[in-house]
Amino acid sequence: MEIKITKNPNPKEKPADESKLGFGKVFTDHMFLMDWDIDRGWHDARIVPYGPLSLSPACTALHYALEVFEGLKAYRTAEGKIQLFRPYENANRLKNSADRIGVPEVDPDDFVEAVLALVSLDKDWVPHTEGTSLYIRPVIFGDDSNVGLHTLRHAVFMIILAPSGMYYPEGLNPVRIMVEESDVRAVRGGTGYTKCGGNYAASQRASVLAEAKGYTQVLWLDGVERKYVEEVGSMNMMFKIDGKVITPALDDGSILPGITRKSILELVRSEGIPVEERKITLQEIIDAAEAGKLEEAWGCGTAAVVSPVGWLYAEGKEYEFNGGKIGPYTQHLYDEITSIQWGKAEDRFGWIVPVV
Ligand code: PLP
Ligand code: COI
Repeated sequence: MEIKITKNPNPKEKPADESKLGFGKVFTDHMFLMDWDIDRGWHDARIVPYGPLSLSPACTALHYALEVFEGLKAYRTAEGKIQLFRPYENANRLKNSADRIGVPEVDPDDFVEAVLALVSLDKDWVPHTEGTSLYIRPVIFGDDSNVGLHTLRHAVFMIILAPSGMYYPEGLNPVRIMVEESDVRAVRGGTGYTKCGGNYAASQRASVLAEAKGYTQVLWLDGVERKYVEEVGSMNMMFKIDGKVITPALDDGSILPGITRKSILELVRSEGIPVEERKITLQEIIDAAEAGKLEEAWGCGTAAVVSPVGWLYAEGKEYEFNGGKIGPYTQHLYDEITSIQWGKAEDRFGWIVPVV
């Protein structure tokens, strides 16, 4: 793929205090764009100065949410190298999301090439402080200027970069999660396994209500029986019960197949700890918590990394896990995953792709 580069003539000041970065609020000097039309396919790959887009008010993505996205990170190692974590996993998941939603797929090799070119140009934006990284947000959206529902004729692939710190203000302190008993996020045959904007729109009302009650995020139950635990707004869930790591299975297609989830399961299995990927009822979690068998609970995701869950509100009651403190196994998983991501530990699973 040929990528035309137009350098930003007015580069911005980089954030002076990396401890105040937050998540996804500051953007770098450049972005990647590529156009698609039904006759020519993908063309005109380019890196241009970061800035506003010009869109038709009738743009398909605005009216019908024809949009899929990804989230991955670039990390700076102590030696100053910049590296990506499993970018082909994101490339392949974006392909699956695009296929489901009906926007054109980007070839995984082109996806990775575009990410490498953009990150390498904006490499000085990868933050230096422990716990920070450069969040990479690729998006494909339909941009026909036509409000009729029809086969898409134009689309855009875009990548933007945001130097970021911890996703949750709690940092590595446990978050409070609330089980959503009314709205559902995804159903079998729906779009739950994709990263499409519509999934997050369907989640928004419950998340706002949970936040108003002092909970960080919502724990979704299955959309049919409202009985089985699925995932949290931006992370997959794992529970350590009776010495086993248990996580909801992906079979129904209603849960996002998280790359952090996949990586943690590989790590846990490599340590000889038993893993169960299966259906888990909310009742099983409550029973285990009440019987003192629920040792630890955590969520995992690119933005959230490994995030302990200290409290769960369900059916009118709040349950506390591990005394509201990060558990030793959650801390161990956080340390193991981030050591590989930040290049402090050997990449023994072959997860790292160097940028520069
Ligand atoms: N579940 C949802 C709904 C998410 O938005 C995310 C974040 O991407 C995850 C799970 C975790 O996925 P990953 O580990 O690939 O970031
Ligand atoms: C990610 O972890 O990459 C995500 O996309 C989560 C997002 C909702 C911030």
